[in-house]
Amino acid sequence: MVNDVRIAGVGMTKFGASPERTSRDLFSQAAGEAFEDADVEPGDIEELYYGNFMGEFAETQGHQGPLMADAAGVDAPATRVESACASSSAAVRMGVDKIRSGQADIVLVGGAERMKNISTAEGTEALSAAADALWEIRAGVTFPGAYSLMANRYFHEFGGTREDLAHIAVKNHANAVNNELAQFNKAIEVEDVLEAPTVSAPFGLYDCSPMSDGAAAAVLVSDSFAEEHGLDTPVEITGVGQGSDALGLQDRASIPRTPAAEEAGQMAFDDAGIDRSDVDVAEVHDCFTIAEALALEALGFYETGEAISAARDGETTKDGEFPVNLSGGLKAKGHPVGATGCAQISEMTKLLRGDHVNSDAVSDASVGLTHNAGGTVASCVVHILEEVDQ
Ligand code: COA
Repeated sequence: MVNDVRIAGVGMTKFGASPERTSRDLFSQAAGEAFEDADVEPGDIEELYYGNFMGEFAETQGHQGPLMADAAGVDAPATRVESACASSSAAVRMGVDKIRSGQADIVLVGGAERMKNISTAEGTEALSAAADALWEIRAGVTFPGAYSLMANRYFHEFGGTREDLAHIAVKNHANAVNNELAQFNKAIEVEDVLEAPTVSAPFGLYDCSPMSDGAAAAVLVSDSFAEEHGLDTPVEITGVGQGSDALGLQDRASIPRTPAAEEAGQMAFDDAGIDRSDVDVAEVHDCFTIAEALALEALGFYETGEAISAARDGETTKDGEFPVNLSGGLKAKGHPVGATGCAQISEMTKLLRGDHVNSDAVSDASVGLTHNAGGTVASCVVHILEEVDQ
C-alpha cells in the first residue's frame, strides 16, 4: 500500500538581500515557521532532505545536511540534495518517496541559498558550475547567456518578440506587488523592460531573475499521521515527476525545447491520475522570461511556439483563464536557487488553502502544479498539489 502525502505546514523567509544572515539562520527560520504551521515539534521529524547548490562557493560550507538539521532542532538522518536550481524540489520529491514507501511518517524538506554576500560576478561564476564545464563554461557561457541563446533560437524557429517577453516580466512583477515575501514589490511597465540595460540580448535587467538570499521549508506527513495527530492538512501531493536531459545545450536535439520538463510533467500527471486540463494554477520556473514560455509548452498547456504570447494576451495574468506565477515567480519573488523549488510548494500550498495574498484570484482552484528546473532544464521536477477532503 502506498501512503498518501499531505503538506502539514510550510515556511519561507522573505527573499531578497540579507547578506548578514547565514544559510543556517535562514533555514532555521523557514523550518521553524513550517513546524508552527504544521503544529508539530522538530523532535517529531524522522528525516530531512535539504536542497542547496552553491554553499561551497558562497559560504565555504559543504556537508549541509546535518548542519541544517542541527539549525532546525531536528535529530534525524539529514541529506543535502543538489540539482542546481531544482535542488529543493528534488528534496521534496525524495521526502514524498520516503513517506509513500512507508519508511517515514513525517519528513522535513526544504532548501536555502546565499547569493547576496558575494558580488554579481562571483555569483555568476558560481552559478555557471551548473553548466557543462568542458564545453559551455570553457566557451564563456553564463546562465543569462545560455538562456538568451534559447530565446534567440525560439524567436528564429517559432517567432515571438522582446515585447512578448516583456509582458511576462510585467505580469510577474504585478503578481508580487502585495507578496510581502517577494524580493521586488514593484510594478513595472512594458517600456521599463524594453528600456532597461541589456544583460545578454535579447534580455535586459527585467528579463532576469535576481540574485537572492532565502530559505523555504515544508513538513510532509502521511495521511495516517495527520489523522492520528489531528493535523489540519488540506493539501496533498498527488503527483511527482522528474526528468533529465543532456547537461549542455550543444548536446541537445533542439535548443528551444525542454524534454526533461516534458517527461517530468507527464510523469506527474500520470502519477496523480489527472489530465493537464485539470490544473487550475501553476508556479513555473521563470529564471528568465523565455523560461516561462518554455515551461508552459513543455508541460503541454500550450503548443510549441504559442506560450510566448500567453501573458501578452492576458491568458496567464492574475485575472486570466490560467494564472501562472501568482507568487511573482522567480522574476519578482526572487531566486535563491537552492530554496526555489520548495518555495514554489510553499506558495502553491497557500494559494490552494486560501491564505495567500493572491488566493482570491484562484478561489475555485483545487489543483496546482509546480515546475522547477535545474540549469538550462537539464533537470526538472514537477509536483501536483490537490486540495483534499479531510
Ligand atoms: N530584476 C529587477 N531588478 C533587479 C534585478 C532583476 N533581476 N537584479 C537587480 N535588480 C535591481 C536591484 O534591486 C538594484 O536596484 P536599486 O538600484 O533600485 O537598488 C539594481 O537593479 C542594481 O542591482 P545590482 O545587484 O547591482 O544588479 P547587477 O547588475 O549586479 O545584477 C543581473 C543584475 C540581472 C545581472 C543579476 O541579477 C543576475 O545575474 N541575474 C541572473 C541570476 C541567474 O542567472 N540565476 C540563475 C538562473 S538559471
